[in-house]
Amino acid sequence: MTPVRPGPESAVRVRTATSEDLDAVMACEEQAFTHGWSRASWAEEIADHHVAVACAPEVVAVVAMSRVLDTAELLRVIVAPDRRRGGVGRTLVEHGVAWAASHQATEVFLEVSADNEAALRLYEACGFVHQYRRRDYYSPGDDALVMRRAVPGASSVPLNPEEDTCQTP
Ligand SMILES: CC(C)(COP(=O)(O)OP(=O)(O)OC[C@H]1O[C@@H](n2cnc3c(N)ncnc32)[C@H](O)[C@@H]1OP(=O)(O)O)[C@@H](O)C(=O)NCCC(=O)NCCS
Repeated sequence: MTPVRPGPESAVRVRTATSEDLDAVMACEEQAFTHGWSRASWAEEIADHHVAVACAPEVVAVVAMSRVLDTAELLRVIVAPDRRRGGVGRTLVEHGVAWAASHQATEVFLEVSADNEAALRLYEACGFVHQYRRRDYYSPGDDALVMRRAVPGASSVPLNPEEDTCQTP
């Protein structure tokens, strides 16, 4: 059966996450990964790095970014299973790249399991290019692919980290 794509009513609002979003973020995490990040890890990301959530109006997706000097890293992006293939993942990846640009990063790196077809296709669709493979990175036989996207015009992209306003089409 052909999957039904969400319509315009599926538009989401993206905003910076706070500790009050932890329950919802953990719900996303647990729906996506069996041995994923702990609540403490997410709390640390929210406190120390940049975590954004997509809301519709409840939290339906999350992205985590970090930056050191001019290099940003996309650490995680998760979309709730019933909201996938509606453009939300792409919206959050683009948000992450815009956040990196507004923080003077000139490139964004990420690593992804070579077996994660959906994530690989998403990152390619967002302009990330494969750099190299880390063999057995996650576990024996589970390689990581490192991908990179340049961020042209880094400092010229305005983005208020407290109140972001990207929306899915
Ligand atoms: C990977 C993930 C975030 C994608 O989110 P999404 O909202 O479904 O992605 P989008 O709808 O924005 O897709 C954008 C593009 O990515 C590609 N894509 C996304 N999911 C795909 C899939 N399952 N198969 C093939 N291509 C896919 C397509 O090119 C798509 O564009 P199109 O729909 O116009 O064809 C989602 O599947 C997910 O949460 N997976 C579990 C968590 C995870 O593995 N995260 C990545 C590692 S941290």
